[in-house]
Amino acid sequence: MKANELPFTTDLNGKVAVVTGAGGVLCSLMAKALAACGAKVAVMDLHLGAAQAVVDEIKKDGYIAGAYEANVLKKESLQAAHDKIVAELGPCDILINGAGGNSPKASTTDEFYAPKVSEDTVTFFDLKEEGFEFVFNLNILGTLLTTQVFAADMLGRKGCSVLNISSMNAFTPLTKIPAYSSAKAGVSNFTKWLATHFAKEGIRVNAIAPGFFSSEPEELLGATLFLSDSKAASFITGVVLPIDGGFSAYSGV
Ligand SMILES: NC(=O)c1ccc[n+]([C@@H]2O[C@H](COP(=O)([O-])OP(=O)(O)OC[C@H]3O[C@@H](n4cnc5c(N)ncnc54)[C@H](O)[C@@H]3O)[C@@H](O)[C@H]2O)c1
Repeated sequence: MKANELPFTTDLNGKVAVVTGAGGVLCSLMAKALAACGAKVAVMDLHLGAAQAVVDEIKKDGYIAGAYEANVLKKESLQAAHDKIVAELGPCDILINGAGGNSPKASTTDEFYAPKVSEDTVTFFDLKEEGFEFVFNLNILGTLLTTQVFAADMLGRKGCSVLNISSMNAFTPLTKIPAYSSAKAGVSNFTKWLATHFAKEGIRVNAIAPGFFSSEPEELLGATLFLSDSKAASFITGVVLPIDGGFSAYSGV
């Protein structure tokens, strides 16, 4: 992705951006956009191959990035990646907590409760503790641990920010996916808590709440760049910005 393909450009020269889940659909694009605006981008993922593929594309376009393997659920893995990033790119200015997702073990088959009709049906009573635990950990604990490791770089420095990825599920839960919806509601709530907690340190903490982005993830880039830019969004912290094409404004009638 070249700078002229972005909705607008911001000057992120001199900044180091760390993006988790950056081997995935949405955050690979965010990593490319940050790099096209001049940031040195740490493309971090559980799967190094996925991260490396994104870095190869960024470098092909002439921008700066490195691939780093880390599990957002393991602090020692995050710390090891952090130490490499600081040595190779510098301390983190912009953190995007992108690793997240759902699990079929935490989803019901039907929208409304109905008695079990076959072994393949997952009713409310079949939901697995480990499914909920997986989804809560990935979305909430993964955001907490990563922020603990990388926000430490931001203390005492100007123009730093954290961007979490919530979901439109956080406002109104979609049917069938109770763990994902409540975990993302937790991400939104934690975003506001952390924005307050870090207010006197000057570290801004915001979130975006995407709707459904299987096909047009480019529409997240304007909000990502705006909220990550310490000049454009200098007085904006603790917001959860819906990016849903008006979905939440429509009453259904
Ligand atoms: N796609 C959507 O429509 C949508 C909508 C709302 C919110 N979101 C959120 O946006 C974020 C990105 O979603 P996506 O659609 O790009 O997902 P994706 O599955 O394409 O990418 C997620 C990436 O995270 C990585 N990952 C998974 N577990 C990890 C771990 N423990 N440590 C490090 N990395 C790990 C995966 O390897 C993958 O590359 C997620 O938080 C998701 O919940 C997505």
